[in-house]
Amino acid sequence: TAAHIGVTGLGVMGRNLARNLARHGYTVAVHNRTYARTQQLMEDHGDEGTFVPSESTADFVASLATPRTVVVMVKAGGPTDAVIEELVGLLEPGDIVVDAGNAHFPDTMRREAALREHGLHFVGCGVSGGEEGALNGPSIMPGGSAQSYATLGPMLEAISAHVDGVPCCTHVGPGGAGHFVKMVHNGIEYADMQLIAEAYDLMRHALGATPSELAQVFAEWNAGDLESYLIEITAKVLEHTDPVTGSAFVDVVADRAEQKGTGRWTVQSALDLGVPVTGIAEATFARALSGSVPQRTAGQALPGHAARWDVTDREAFITDVRKALYASKVVAYSQGFDQIAAASAEYGWDIDRGAMARIWRGGCIIRAKFLDRITQAYERTPDLPLLIADPYFADAVGDGLDAWRRIVGLAAAHGVPTPAFASSLAYYDAIRAERLPANLIQGLRDYFGAHTYHRTDTDGVFHTDWSGDHVEHDA
Ligand code: 6PG
Repeated sequence: TAAHIGVTGLGVMGRNLARNLARHGYTVAVHNRTYARTQQLMEDHGDEGTFVPSESTADFVASLATPRTVVVMVKAGGPTDAVIEELVGLLEPGDIVVDAGNAHFPDTMRREAALREHGLHFVGCGVSGGEEGALNGPSIMPGGSAQSYATLGPMLEAISAHVDGVPCCTHVGPGGAGHFVKMVHNGIEYADMQLIAEAYDLMRHALGATPSELAQVFAEWNAGDLESYLIEITAKVLEHTDPVTGSAFVDVVADRAEQKGTGRWTVQSALDLGVPVTGIAEATFARALSGSVPQRTAGQALPGHAARWDVTDREAFITDVRKALYASKVVAYSQGFDQIAAASAEYGWDIDRGAMARIWRGGCIIRAKFLDRITQAYERTPDLPLLIADPYFADAVGDGLDAWRRIVGLAAAHGVPTPAFASSLAYYDAIRAERLPANLIQGLRDYFGAHTYHRTDTDGVFHTDWSGDHVEHDA
């Protein structure tokens, strides 16, 4: 029988997606450049469902029912282009090519346009949840044509995570929309992790708490508003003891954070779109700083002049940190959703932000209880200009505001770096300010470069003759 769908590239993600599809009753054609890997899949998991293994790409394509749906799960960049090129020669108009890797969205836009020329549908599809998610239910963010979703959507929805019976998969929008949203998901993932790390660091410094004591704190937080996968696994990582040394695991891990690049892409795109994603940017820079070994070595000699911690009420301090974390998190998400809205307008994707929050409730790395609140906020006001100004979040952040200010102030006084906490608070104060000092910047630009300015009292564009009579002119 002809296969419903094919997967090429049977690394751990591809293999697990193929198994997930087969376990849901689909007949899955499987292919890998090195056939041994395909045989290995058949040997280890061939009894989990119906697989159709092929050694050559031509046989693989021939084993598929039409319109053919091929999921490509190979390394982003050159390897993906090579596989796509080979497929284009074998597929027919109406067939669907799905790139389920972490591709950069401009590549996806380029590939989608190129395949459209051949009458093929190209679906750049974000998949989150790691190996485990791919097998048991990821969050899936497919872009591409609405027509392709009619064939592909039901299969992806079936294998995705479900929350309250609702699949964590929806058609995101045309072109590169799916990979764009996955990219922002990863940027938010960076921000979430940086905020958690700052909270941990503050409590260790201020309270002298051990990692296992802090594991308790995070486990408790996971029973409240902060309930999320990342908070849950923070407790697990903190309570883990290194079997070699018997020390806390986090104390034997080198403090240099790595990255594969999706956070950096998010910040680059935000700069291009002119959207301030300060939480994601600080998180990305914090990783870069942690890995700046020569600078950090030279920096050890710098004076600190910081106050010594003297926390009398531990519980109150922990509550303050929790509130600062929650408020900063809301800011980071608010900024990420702004970026999605800006890209959606720029590229004509018409992305429903509430639906994005909905498909992130399960399966993905940033899955969290509070995403329900985000969906509700966008359902109340689909064109909401600022997520933190939604009444629910305005209240929630307002409740934590004093705590947030105390924590950022204490961190600065005691010399503990909290770039994400502090920049999120600065963003909050800037976005609610009636007047910002950008007026002075405009004055300076006009002075040195005749760059012109607008006035508060009248419309038009003006320039002041700074070298002559200081008289203002219409520009
Ligand atoms: C996911 C993750 C995943 C990402 C890793 C590593 O949604 O399952 O976002 O796609 O690649 O988390 O990212 P970094 O190496 O950049 O930290």
